[in-house]
Amino acid sequence: MTTVTTSTAGTTGSVGAAHARLEGRDKVTGAARYAGEVPFAELAHGWLVLSTITRGRIRSVETGPVLEMPGVLTVLHHGNAPRIDGNYQGMMGPPDPVIQVFQHDRVPHAGWPVALVVAETSEQAREAAESLVVRYEEEPHDVVFGAGSPGAYVPDSETPTEKGDVEAELASSAVVVDAEYTTPEEHHSAMEPHAAMARWDSGRLEVVDSNQGSMWVASELAKLFSLDPGAVRVRSEHVGGAFGAKGIRPHQVCAVMAATVLHRPVRVVLTRRQTFSLVGYRSPTAQRVRLGADADGRLRAVDHQALSVTSTVHEFLERSADAGRAMYAADALHTVNRLVRVDVPTPTFMRAPGEAPGSFALESALDELAEKCGIDPIALRARNEPAVGPASGLPFSSRNLLACFDEGAARFGWAQRDPRPGIRREGRWLLGTGTAASSFPSGAAPSTASVTAEADGSFTVRITAADVGTGARTALTLIAADALEVAPERIRMKIADSDFGPAMVAGGSMGTRSWAWAVTTAAADLREQLALGGGIPPQGITVRADTGAAVQALTQKERHSFGAQFAEVAVDVTSGEVRVRRMLGVFAAGRIVNPLTARSQFIGGMTWGLSMALHEEAVRDQASGGHVGADLAGYHFAAHADVPPIEAAWVEDPDPDDPVGIKGIGEIGIVGAAAAIANAVWHATGVRHRNLPIRPDRVLQAGTAAHGAG
Ligand code: MOS
Repeated sequence: MTTVTTSTAGTTGSVGAAHARLEGRDKVTGAARYAGEVPFAELAHGWLVLSTITRGRIRSVETGPVLEMPGVLTVLHHGNAPRIDGNYQGMMGPPDPVIQVFQHDRVPHAGWPVALVVAETSEQAREAAESLVVRYEEEPHDVVFGAGSPGAYVPDSETPTEKGDVEAELASSAVVVDAEYTTPEEHHSAMEPHAAMARWDSGRLEVVDSNQGSMWVASELAKLFSLDPGAVRVRSEHVGGAFGAKGIRPHQVCAVMAATVLHRPVRVVLTRRQTFSLVGYRSPTAQRVRLGADADGRLRAVDHQALSVTSTVHEFLERSADAGRAMYAADALHTVNRLVRVDVPTPTFMRAPGEAPGSFALESALDELAEKCGIDPIALRARNEPAVGPASGLPFSSRNLLACFDEGAARFGWAQRDPRPGIRREGRWLLGTGTAASSFPSGAAPSTASVTAEADGSFTVRITAADVGTGARTALTLIAADALEVAPERIRMKIADSDFGPAMVAGGSMGTRSWAWAVTTAAADLREQLALGGGIPPQGITVRADTGAAVQALTQKERHSFGAQFAEVAVDVTSGEVRVRRMLGVFAAGRIVNPLTARSQFIGGMTWGLSMALHEEAVRDQASGGHVGADLAGYHFAAHADVPPIEAAWVEDPDPDDPVGIKGIGEIGIVGAAAAIANAVWHATGVRHRNLPIRPDRVLQAGTAAHGAG
């Protein structure tokens, strides 16, 4: 037994100080390997073939000619693929049937997986996959979605909010806003497309993947393939963006099937085009918002009704109408989310699911109400600040929305703003500014972690966290350093390996908070053990923590982060182009662990909000049922030239019930950003744009209000 100094006195303050990403150098030099580029001996390559029809049956898969092609090892399809069991409750409920690949001959939407060609090289697999002839029996399809879509229903998963008498309050309101808003189908477009390698190793299934939760993927694979959970190991060391799309998806299932059939490692990488059909997306929405207020802006009624789409094979609900449940005091509050089913792929979680499109509608409507009441938009929000959660009636854990607006207004120069629309002109540009509130739920989920005091004085932390580009690995290192009262350099942070045990996924803005809780708990227990003395054996001293009971014991409160978004735009009256000139977001989102990466999270979300406001729109062709331009040329999102200086700041807002004070910051940056821009476009032009994206043709068609600008 070696005795080393384990003095941990006096080193704190890592949390809250800017720290560069631990793996940053490896990423920019290419040393960091992503799932699609980790080398394996004997690796074979699978290439997916997707349906070219939107609805019908597969009549035949003509494998003969393809099997003769160079390097081709096998073609898996519904006629020969291993049987799997999709009849289970996963972490997110029953799985989207798109992951139950090759189990039957039905095609329920365009881009449905119909075959996997496996070959010695990726190029051979692709060549063969593109040559594979699949014959179909086509049936008529319907992919049309809109406010008038027939068959809208309230799904079982939805509980509408019904507080007070909305119709009566609207009838007695001095001012009423009643408007419809739409947002289009939007895609995650992670820089790194999905990729997974699967192999069998001494009776264990090993998967190297790109995901948001290695334990999540491991447990779903175990259920699908009827394996003992301990017989599956999934790792996901580096992830090039996820945003809700990187859970269990067809590529992992295909890789496992092929590895099982061929008895060798198989990798499946999705193409950019395939991600448009296979990994989920944000549903288009059609929303109606009705606000009723007294002449001074005090809200009497808020009614938010949202419609979104799902597939015919699975139910996913984009909860846009939830956006206002924690926002404003009103005598009557009604919110409801409805769905229609058509022949499209199933949507899924995408950064700030619900809140992103919902806040566009609600926060645009607030701006319309401010205009009608002749009240400053910030003053209107202050006037309707609730004492308790408007829908829940629960106290807020902390609510610093107005502090965000105060700080934001001062930084942005809001006080000098002339509220009149359409009166600022600079050459052919009309100028305007806008604001919107932002909010996202804050939560924690049970996680496990272990911390080992090594004989050499360092510490090893193991947790099935995922760093999807957020800087979570670095944040957890700072948290562990403070919890152990040592410098971050003495921490070895090991993440993204399902063998480390159950932990929250990188989702719901809950990852870092949930993992930090487990790491700090284990670290505290370890310090108690070390304080007893006795030295450290060669294998170290390991302590495990499980936060299940502590998380369950959290008292009932309305737990949210809040923020204030500001934007300045210029609108070219001759081309209809909207340029965002600057953005500012001020957030009350708990204790900020690493200001450097937190700022990146906020401005990343805000950039996406800009992109959502002006650019992003997946177009589905009604005749074929598939996308037009399913690639990053056809699906435009904001590039460098579109993005102005963006400033993100925050106010003190530690969560009173979290060991570190964290609330979670992954999603709130996008919330309200599109509304702030749309409100600024109104301020510039005098015209309300209620349909995203605010494309040049829409701006030209709508024109500008005749305010005699100039
Ligand atoms: Mo996120 S949409 O919670 O991965």
